[in-house]
Formats: sequence, C-alpha cells, structure tokens
Amino acid sequence: MYWSSLLLTAAAALVPGAHGAATLRFSCSQLVVDRLDPLVNPGVIPSPHLHQVVGGNSFNVTMDPSVDISTTSTCTSCTPTEDFSNYWTGVLFFRARNGTFKRVNTMGNGLGFSQANGGQTVYYLSSGKVTAFKPGFRMTVGDPTFRTAAQLNAKYRYMTYTCLATDMTRSGATTNFPKGTCAAGIMVSIRFPTCWDGVNLDSPDHQSHIAYPAGAGCPATHPVSIPQVFYETYWDTRPFNDKSQWPADGSQPFVWSFGDATGYGIHGDYVFGWKGDALQRAMDANCNSDLFSNAINCPTLKTQTLQQANTCTTKRMVHEDLDGWLKELPGGMQVM
Ligand SMILES: *[C@@H]1O[C@H](CO)[C@@H](O)[C@H](O)[C@H]1NC(C)=O
Ligand SMILES: *[C@@H]1O[C@H](CO)[C@@H](O)[C@H](O)[C@H]1NC(C)=O
Repeated sequence: MYWSSLLLTAAAALVPGAHGAATLRFSCSQLVVDRLDPLVNPGVIPSPHLHQVVGGNSFNVTMDPSVDISTTSTCTSCTPTEDFSNYWTGVLFFRARNGTFKRVNTMGNGLGFSQANGGQTVYYLSSGKVTAFKPGFRMTVGDPTFRTAAQLNAKYRYMTYTCLATDMTRSGATTNFPKGTCAAGIMVSIRFPTCWDGVNLDSPDHQSHIAYPAGAGCPATHPVSIPQVFYETYWDTRPFNDKSQWPADGSQPFVWSFGDATGYGIHGDYVFGWKGDALQRAMDANCNSDLFSNAINCPTLKTQTLQQANTCTTKRMVHEDLDGWLKELPGGMQVM
C-alpha cells in the first residue's frame, strides 16, 4: 500500500524512460535546530525563522557555493557516508490555549528508522535516466508567505501533511495542517521539482533554475531530468493531543516557525553535497531501498549505522530558549 501510493505520487512527478527506476531512501538524523538559513539569508545571524537541519556538518551561517561541502564536512547525519548535503525545513510549534508556544521535536521514521535521533527520511527518486546535481547546486521549494490552497496549488505540487494514525498511515494527505489529533504524529512530505535548466546551479529566487515536468517530459526551458529529492519529516505531536489545550474555537494548534498556522507556507531547502559521483552512481544503479528495515540496499554506496549517524551534530550558533513554553515564536515571528 505504501509503495503504491509513493510510486504513484513519484511517477506523476517524473519522466518515464528506458532506464529503470531508483528509489533511494535513507535516514538523516537531526544535525541541529538553529535560526540560520545560509541559502535564503546568507550571513544573517540570526535568520528570521527557525529551521531543523540534517546532513553534513559544514552547515553554517554562510555557505559559499564555490566550496564543495563534501570536502569540508567531517561527518554527516545521513546514513550514506558520501552524502554531505544539507536538507532543512521550518520547525513546528504547538500553540497552547494560553497562547504560549512549545517546540515540537522531530522523530525517527517508524518505518525502519525509529532509532534515528529525529531528523528526516530523504529519498532520491527517478524513473529513467537522470543527471545528478553538481557541487554548488542548491534549490528551495515552497513559499513561506503562502496562506491559501489557491496560492500553493498555482505554483507547487506534491507537498503534503499526513495525519499518522500509525507509522503505516499513507492515506488522507492534505496540503494544510490536519484538523484533528494524530495518534502517531504528523508526517510532512516535501518533494522538489525534477527538471533543471542544465546551466545554473542556483537562481536569485533559488527556484527559477528548476521546474516541474510539463506533459510527458521536462519543458524545453528546463530540459534536464534530475533526481526527485523528497523529504519525509515525522513531527512528534503526540505530547500535544490533549484537546483541552487546543484553541477554544476548535481550530488546530500547530504553527510553523515562520508564523503559518494554515500549513500552506510549507517549504524546504536543499544544498547538494554528495562526494564525487556517488549520487550519480546510485541513480545509475537503480538503487531500490528496503522499506521496513534501515538497509539502503545500494551496494555502490558506503553507509554507516543510524547510531553512527546520530553522533554527527553541530553546536547551535544562535543562543535562545527553544525548549520552554515561549511567549512568542523565535525571532518574534507573528502568526499571520
Ligand atoms: C562557520 O563559519 C565560520 C566563519 O564564518 C568559521 O569560523 C567556522 O569554522 C564555520 N563552522 C563550521 C562548522 O564550518
Ligand atoms: C500554558 O499552557 C501550557 C500547557 O498547558 C503550560 O504548560 C504552561 O505552563 C502555560 N503557561 C502559562 C504562562 O500559563
């Protein structure tokens, strides 16, 4: 059931081709939760809103695109040890009835990665021949200012929330926050576009150099098929399922660190950092990872255990309370 829903979604985003399909799936433990954004706000410390970050430990307030981060990182929180990329998203908060905010933790994906210290599951998907990213490549998907379904649907695809009744739940995805309690947490799925202009490693809005497929293949403006980068983040909302603490008007209590209580501002950031041709090799080998174990099932890649991945963390650079019941979101982000 899981695979079929995943593949349907993935297939819709990908270009069919003569080559096989790769479904590389692995865990990246939490590297750091910090108010930094080297892609959208390079050099700005603190950045406007809080992020949860996974991947290589050269994540920093500034990340010069001319520096190959696979050569400057000394560890990665991902299980493929040649992947020093950084992957990040906003952070969920619970807003209690009394108006205070409590940060929600990420947790290991119950399907194979429950021993991970939070973070997220990362996929690289393909159907047919794809060209892996190059050092310096970066991109974002989604827009933190969006607050309506119409805004989201007009520009982006395949970014969803799944209200987990169990770890196995893979139906009923929505593009806004789930309205009721979710017994096993909330899964946030963020999928990036799969076509590249073939020239630019980045663009001023971090998105114009990539595009969604149009009809049967990539559009002429963005002719190169790239792997589909896909995150699944499990948010541990279980401690917040007491409805007596939910808003008195019956609305749902979760809000993103960028002040979004709708969910439509969902977005993700990616900085490529695989070593050498490791990602290209894995895609060319059509690696298909096991679903119910933590096996990457990709002999061409070197890997480490979840426990080893858990040991790769960085120190927070912005010192502020992230664990108490906060009067306001970090950075004073207003909920609007
Ligand atoms: C982050 O960048 C600063 C300089 O901007 C540097 O001193 C520091 O070593 C870097 N940290 C990491 C983890 O690369
Ligand atoms: C607000 O509500 C939370 C959840 O019940 C509670 O833990 C916290 O102490 C409350 N804070 C204040 C200032 O009342």
